[in-house]
Amino acid sequence: MSSSHSDALVFYGATGDLAFKKIFPALQAMVRRGHLDVPVVGVARSSWTIDQFRQRVRDSLEKHGGVDPLAFEKLSRLLRYVSVDYTDPAACSAIHNELKGARRPAIYLAVPPHLFAPAIEQLAKSGCAKDARIIIEKPFGRDFASAKNLNRILHEVFDESSIFRIDHYLGKRPVNNMLVFRFANAFVESFWNRTYIENVQITMAEDFGVQGRGSFYDETGAIRDVVQNHIFQVISNLAMEPPARNDSESLRDEKVKVLKAIPPIEPNGLVRGQFRGYRDEKGVAKDSRTETFAALRLKINSWRWKGVPFYVRAGKCLPVTCTEIVGRFHKPPTLIPEAVLKENHLRLRLSPEVLIAMGMMTLAPGDKFAVETSEMVASSAPRADEMEAYERLLGAAMEGDGSLFAREDYVEEAWRIVDPVLAKETPIYEYEPNTWGPRETERVTPEGGWHNPIADPGTLQLGRRAG
Ligand code: BG6
Repeated sequence: MSSSHSDALVFYGATGDLAFKKIFPALQAMVRRGHLDVPVVGVARSSWTIDQFRQRVRDSLEKHGGVDPLAFEKLSRLLRYVSVDYTDPAACSAIHNELKGARRPAIYLAVPPHLFAPAIEQLAKSGCAKDARIIIEKPFGRDFASAKNLNRILHEVFDESSIFRIDHYLGKRPVNNMLVFRFANAFVESFWNRTYIENVQITMAEDFGVQGRGSFYDETGAIRDVVQNHIFQVISNLAMEPPARNDSESLRDEKVKVLKAIPPIEPNGLVRGQFRGYRDEKGVAKDSRTETFAALRLKINSWRWKGVPFYVRAGKCLPVTCTEIVGRFHKPPTLIPEAVLKENHLRLRLSPEVLIAMGMMTLAPGDKFAVETSEMVASSAPRADEMEAYERLLGAAMEGDGSLFAREDYVEEAWRIVDPVLAKETPIYEYEPNTWGPRETERVTPEGGWHNPIADPGTLQLGRRAG
C-alpha cells in the first residue's frame, strides 16, 4: 500500500441499513483480498459494546454473502465502535482516541443528508478532519441550491482532492466497461456519433417497489433517486470524448463537459408515473405525488451529439430488473423499401448480465424477400469473486483515487439539468405494476419505439410503443 493510503477508516452510520447490506460485506471482502489492514471505527448513536457491534457485522455477513471465518476474524480485530451524538463536540474526541494517531483517516458519512453539516463541523473543530479524506454517501443534496450549499460546507474544511462523493454506479465494472468498449475499439469511434446514430435510449427497470424504504423514497422520487446520479453517469460514459490524459481529473473534465452541453429538462419532455398501490406503502403519504417512474428526453448540444435525442426511462414495479442502452442507427440510403427495412442498433446491457450486441439487418429465411434483425452478441456473467461496487469504491477512496467519484462541478451540473422540473408541479400518471409505465409515456417515446428489455438477454424484443 502506498504511503498516501488511508491508515484508518471511520464510518458514521454503523448501525444503519446501508452498513448492514453493503458496507460490512465490502469490508470483509477487502480484508480477504488483503486490501484492508487498518483500524475500522464504526460510529453511531446506539450505545453498543464492541461485542454487540461485532455481532451486528456477523449478522450482516450471514445475510449478505456469507461469513468467511478467517477474514471475519481479522476484520473483527480491526473493528472499533464509538457511540456518539454526531452533533456533540465530545463525539470527535472519542473518535480521535480510537484513531490512535492515524495520519490520513478516511471518514465515511453514511448518514442522512441533514447530518452531513453538523458532523463535518464537529470533525473540523476536533481536529479529526486534519489531512483526512471524506466520503459522502448519496443523495448529495436534493436540488441545485442544496448541493451547492453542501459543497460550500465541505470546502470550508476539505480540499476537493480529499472529497469522495459516492455514486455506487461508478463502482460497477459494467459501467466502467462502457469506456473500454468505446475507447479501446477503433471501430466504435467511426459510428458512435450524430452522423450514424438517430437516437439513444436508456432503461433502468426494477421489478420491485420501494422495499420498506417508503419514507425515504417519498421524499426522493425516481428523478432524484436514480436519474440525476446513476443514469447521468451512464450518459456521461456514453457521450463523453476520450480524455486527453489518463488521470482522474482529465476523465472527470470530459464527463462534466457532457453535462454542460445538456439544457435543463423541459416539462413537456418529461412523463412522471406512480405505480398503483404505492400510496399504501408504509411511510408513503396517502396523497403522494412522488414519481416511481420517469421517462424523459434530453438534448446534448455537443459537436458529437447535437440533434440526437437521448431518452431515459427509469422506474419501480416494471416487468423486469435490467439496465440497458440502445443506440439506434439512421436508416441506410438503400434501395430496399422503407416498409421492409428493420433496424440497426447497438445494445449495451449493464445488468443483470453484461452484454454488447450489434443489431443488423439480414435476409430472412424463406423464398420471399424479407429482412430481419439479427444480433451479434458478446456477453459475460459476473465472476463469483468479482468486487462489488462498494468494495471497489471504498478501496479507491482510501487510495485517494477520485476517478470513480462525482466531482463538485459534476454534481452541480447534474442538479442544474433536473432542477426546473423538480421545482415545477408536473402531472403524475398512475400505472399498473408489472407494465412499462403510464400510457402517457408515448409522449416521450423515441423514433422506432422503446426497446423493452426482457429477462433473456440472448433474444430481442422491439416495441413500437410503451405499454
Ligand atoms: C440506489 C437507489 O441508489 O440504486 C435504489 O436508491 C435503486 O432505489 C438502486 O434500487 C439500484 O442500484 P443497483 O445497484 O441495485 O442497480
